[in-house]
Amino acid sequence: MTDTILILNGPNLNLLGKREPHIYGTDTLEHIESLLLARATKLNLEIDMRQSNHEGQIIDWIQNPGDKSAGILLNAGAHTHTSIAIYDALKASALPTIEVHLSNPHAREPFRHRSYVSPVSVGIISGFGANSYLLALDAMANLLSA
Ligand code: DQA
Repeated sequence: MTDTILILNGPNLNLLGKREPHIYGTDTLEHIESLLLARATKLNLEIDMRQSNHEGQIIDWIQNPGDKSAGILLNAGAHTHTSIAIYDALKASALPTIEVHLSNPHAREPFRHRSYVSPVSVGIISGFGANSYLLALDAMANLLSA
């Protein structure tokens, strides 16, 4: 059975492409998904990419990842910096999680320096724009094959 990687995106990431392009780049989330699909095929993985502006929806997805899911890539958007509920959901999850950000939150406003996702993630990839997602998928493939 081919492993599926659940790729979860939080609030405002549906606006990628037109949202603060000097920070987040000009790629849309749909385009990033197409890049991830191509990379996943090469890595012999499947992906299931989702986006929600609602914290509870992200928690429901973490709680019910589906039988084929072997790992989670999570860009929780601003919930990264606020959500103890997402922290708790990840802590209860049996799946390895990699935290992903397009920008480097540590090079930005102080309120972005705290992450509730980092302590319950295997690792963090941030600051490489759309490529952060591809690097994270590579890292997950490596992790799962170890
Ligand atoms: C982000 C960084 C967060 O601080 C911000 O709230 C986002 C996007 C990123 O991918 O760089 O919405 O997660």
